[in-house]
Amino acid sequence: MCGIVGYIGTDNNAKEVIIEGLKRLEYRGYDSAGIALHKGSVIETRKHVGEISNLEKIIGDKDFESTLGIGHTRWATHGAPSDVNSHPHSNMDNTVTVVHNGIIENYVELREWLTSEYGIKFKSDTDTEVIAHLIGIYYDGDLHKAVNRAVEDMRGAYAIGVIAADEPDKMVAVRKDAPLVAGIGEGCNFIASDIPALLKYVRKIYLIENNETVVLTKDKITIYDEKQKVVKREVFHVTWDADAAEKGGYDHFMMKEIHEQPHGLSETLNRRLNDDNTIKLDGISMTKEDIEGFNKVYIVACGTAYHAGLVGKAAIEKMAKIPVEVDIASEFRYRDPFVDDKTLFIAISQSGETLDTLAALREAKKKGARIFSVVNVVGSSIARESDDVFYTWAGPEIAVASTKAYTTQLMCMYLIALYMGHTKGVIDKEYYDMFIGELKAIPDKLQLILDKQDEIEAIAKKYKRKDDVFYIGRGVDSGVSYEGSLKLKEISYINSFAIAAGELKHGTIALIEDGTLVFALATQNFLFEKMISNIQEIKARGANVIGIAKEGNTDIETQSSEVIYIPDCIDEVTPLLSVVPLQIYAYYVAKFRGCNIDKPKNLAKSVTVE
Ligand code: F6R
Repeated sequence: MCGIVGYIGTDNNAKEVIIEGLKRLEYRGYDSAGIALHKGSVIETRKHVGEISNLEKIIGDKDFESTLGIGHTRWATHGAPSDVNSHPHSNMDNTVTVVHNGIIENYVELREWLTSEYGIKFKSDTDTEVIAHLIGIYYDGDLHKAVNRAVEDMRGAYAIGVIAADEPDKMVAVRKDAPLVAGIGEGCNFIASDIPALLKYVRKIYLIENNETVVLTKDKITIYDEKQKVVKREVFHVTWDADAAEKGGYDHFMMKEIHEQPHGLSETLNRRLNDDNTIKLDGISMTKEDIEGFNKVYIVACGTAYHAGLVGKAAIEKMAKIPVEVDIASEFRYRDPFVDDKTLFIAISQSGETLDTLAALREAKKKGARIFSVVNVVGSSIARESDDVFYTWAGPEIAVASTKAYTTQLMCMYLIALYMGHTKGVIDKEYYDMFIGELKAIPDKLQLILDKQDEIEAIAKKYKRKDDVFYIGRGVDSGVSYEGSLKLKEISYINSFAIAAGELKHGTIALIEDGTLVFALATQNFLFEKMISNIQEIKARGANVIGIAKEGNTDIETQSSEVIYIPDCIDEVTPLLSVVPLQIYAYYVAKFRGCNIDKPKNLAKSVTVE
């Protein structure tokens, strides 16, 4: 986690550039923020616990300006959020200063060694501080050399940016298993954890690869590989708009992103469809023989992306008739799964940087699986390490709670399942065309749900005080229940629980009592009557039920306190619609409870730690 930004140029505007960049990286963590500027022959550091606005209050003075600096926004791992644990960190005589994203796994060992051998006194509880001291002890006037030597001692995942008091014209950065980009300016250069941090200033970017070191002066960026050979890297031209990352009139990014779903879904679909409705693979070669050769599909992801995988499993099993396992990435990587060269491994990730998903991918790759990923961030680590990438076209997702990434991930999963099933000959042309027609109709249908925002807001107002909320459903509705529950708990801090409706009676129903709030998803026509029975069971125990059903299935009204209808569609694609009222409900409950919607406590947008 954490976000880093660095600037080197001729104008005295390092502070402005870094603060602007950090604001774009707050999704990576916002426990504290800090900035270090090179001032003549010394480095001056200021940092503050809390959001960047707190830091801004202590850096406003004219004296605190420079042409060179590094900054950081933190998601605490080692050491509580506090001023002293905030980055940047420096060595003892303040001649080397570092910002760091990631974890130094052997920091305890290094700390003990630095203390006993060099008498170093640590100021913070962070793992990062060891990096500053290590570089400090190896430094003899050449920062690049000292950083490379220090990296030899470090184990873990990191992206670091470093400056030295004795080298006012240089900044050094290193990447190992944590994202890092370098921005190419005119008479100035930049580093950052992610591209949006730099878009106000540059559109030409170098994507830094693992184990590479970057040395920046105001006029030059030199990238070195692990063996310190200069690497020639192609420039990546960013074509998307920085405004896409602004709130555009909404109170929160989350609501803006909920409303961007029709557009994101159209983009994701249309970019993959030829005029004759066949699916465009754009560089991905997946033949009938390839598909017939897969004896198993693993879908691996975390959080919301994992929930998209649950729906993906149903689609692939139904349409391509290949067994699918969906696994949580942090579990997959440590359980020696049955993966071989006949396995198709599908990683789903919005950020493309989630460490657990990346590690699972590497594990599957080692065992010979074909690696296919569904990713939102172009050029991210997961995208780069995959054999094939199917991009979601959601655009930048800033709110920590994922919304448009989820629905566009679903769209990709449907397209992949359709492609596999059709190519393999399991589904006929009639079903294929019908399904594509259903997908094409989704953006307009989703807009109809967005038009009911006020109705859902009123329901949220009525139930905002409920402190325990359940979500139940059958078939793909159970997958959506998990997502609805996660949305509510992560942004409103309400204890919520999702369970397959048929499983409720095997224990959990003991928790249902007078006034318990239950969302009952009943969108599957073939399971509708069974769901009505489950709803009756909980209603009999006094629950308040909010039913989600397709228009026309009015029988649910007799069993529910409220019903939110979604437009009619085939059962398979209801998750693209039924999740939307749950997103809006979670948003309003969080708003009524005064929560920090876009930046919920303890969370970060991109989870690059284990
Ligand atoms: C929840 C949420 C997280 C992410 C998870 C995986 O709203 O956003 O659960 O889905 O951390 O992140 P990515 O998709 O970036 O791999």
